[in-house]
Amino acid sequence: MLGRIGFATVAMLGLAVPASAQDADIAAGKAYAEQVCAQCHAVQAGEDLSPAEGATPFQEVANTPGMTEYALSVWLQSSHPTMPNIVLEQDEMRNVIAYIRSLDSRL
Ligand code: HEC
Repeated sequence: MLGRIGFATVAMLGLAVPASAQDADIAAGKAYAEQVCAQCHAVQAGEDLSPAEGATPFQEVANTPGMTEYALSVWLQSSHPTMPNIVLEQDEMRNVIAYIRSLDSRL
């Protein structure tokens, strides 16, 4: 699990252009998550058990302090041994991030 320090480190490398929430399509992001991410992650609101061990449910991702759009875009643009390198188009990434952020139950 990449903690907050990990995210900060990756962010400092300046690898990512933050995906903007503007123009994001949350419904499309949800559909994308159901298609691509759901084989490992629990992607629905309120779901707390992921199909793949160690894959954080998206609701929990959304509720994690510091898991901003920026942190998510960094995560999705860097590679992880435990998660396949899924190459997302810019708009897919924006949408899926907007969907994850929309699950934040603190909002
Ligand atoms: C083949 C399984 C698999 C697929 C498909 C997958 N993931 Fe993951 N994902 C994982 C695993 C396992 C982790 C935990 C890895 C770690 O913390 O090192 C993870 C971690 C994450 C994290 C970090 C969560 C945290 O709290 O550390 C995010 C964000 C994430 N995935 C988003 C996505 C998105 C968005 C998609 C779809 C585009 C996706 N994942 C598809 C397996 C997968």
